[in-house]
Amino acid sequence: MSSQLTRRDWLRASGLLTASLGLSRFTPAEAAYPAAPLVSTFTNEFAFTDDPFEKMGSLRARLLANENPLGISPNAKQALVKAAEIGNRYAFMEFGQLKKLIAADEGVKAENILMSPGSSDILMAAADNFAKGGGTILTSVMTYDDLLQRAEKQGAKIKALPMTKDYKYDLPAIKAAITPDVKMVYIVNPNNPTGTIVPTAELEAFCREVAPKVPVFIDEAYIDFFEPAERPKLGKLVSEGLNVILARTFSKIHGFAGLRLGYAMAQPAMLRILRDYTNGDFAVSITTLMAGIASYQDKDWQNHCRAENAKARAYTTKALADMGYEVIPSSTNFILFPIRMKTGPFSNQMFAQGIGIQTRDFNGQPYCRVSVGTMDEMAIFMDGFKKVVG
Ligand SMILES: Cc1ncc(COP(=O)(O)O)c(C=O)c1O
Repeated sequence: MSSQLTRRDWLRASGLLTASLGLSRFTPAEAAYPAAPLVSTFTNEFAFTDDPFEKMGSLRARLLANENPLGISPNAKQALVKAAEIGNRYAFMEFGQLKKLIAADEGVKAENILMSPGSSDILMAAADNFAKGGGTILTSVMTYDDLLQRAEKQGAKIKALPMTKDYKYDLPAIKAAITPDVKMVYIVNPNNPTGTIVPTAELEAFCREVAPKVPVFIDEAYIDFFEPAERPKLGKLVSEGLNVILARTFSKIHGFAGLRLGYAMAQPAMLRILRDYTNGDFAVSITTLMAGIASYQDKDWQNHCRAENAKARAYTTKALADMGYEVIPSSTNFILFPIRMKTGPFSNQMFAQGIGIQTRDFNGQPYCRVSVGTMDEMAIFMDGFKKVVG
């Protein structure tokens, strides 16, 4: 395999994963995408073995894919067993039940929701649709690039503007860069890999101004890590009739990365367009839907996962700060911080200790992105990190 192996190539070559790992090769030296050569994130030997996933099972701390280390809700487990009994039936009723729950929470109508097996399918549908016939997708760098890579392959140009100094989307700059050939704006909020969030009032004002001209796609994969009272509620923009697409996933706080469940919230006309690139609501299995319904209502489990994540994130952030590392404040289940050695050797030495992490090279600066695991895993991470950096 080439050292320019992309995330998708890697997954395809391995043939073992279909789910997104939140992995990215998005490492331009400059803001323009893709003017600078893109270098694989997988600078470690692990990624280049014949069967990288063989090693995945042997990791002592699996901190590379922003998964939920605590597993799925006990109620969701029970629902899976129940669902197995009716696995012979199509899920005619179940996706409607889940949509009703989501609609009530988000202040939208069920017709504003499209279910999907993970949010990646929504991202891909949007990429395929908005790249059709060329044009530009406007975004920021660094960000999650699955949608961008797909759109680029389908013929779109990607214009990625620099982040602000505090690693946030620069919304005024994006607004100023809107030209007639811009087909869609892509915002990841909170952002991956920086973990940062733009102020909600600013984002709402941005959408009200921009969405009447250009669709705004907001990827909210990590939104559930906010305390419910503090969480941005952009569903209201959809109910106002704005051309905003919100992508959500159960892969994070609900721990459904393997079960695969996500959804989009948007105008019904937009959902009809996106649905034509997918298998629609029926793409989700009855087992996943029934587990999803149980998990969605299990607020105790979500609160537990959120609290454990906050605790382990605070512990790691402090431990790194005590060593003089500047961690970017994170609203998610991962953290990003600049490191003082090259990504390749760093990554190799971490993986050699059974610690899976990701790295980025950005503007000549190497970074480590570590997912927040259990407290035990974070202690393993810190111990391994100390050994590597000396
Ligand atoms: C920002 C972002 N969007 C979307 C996804 C896709 O998640 P899934 O397809 O598992 O819902 C991820 C996965 O890590 C992500 O980080």
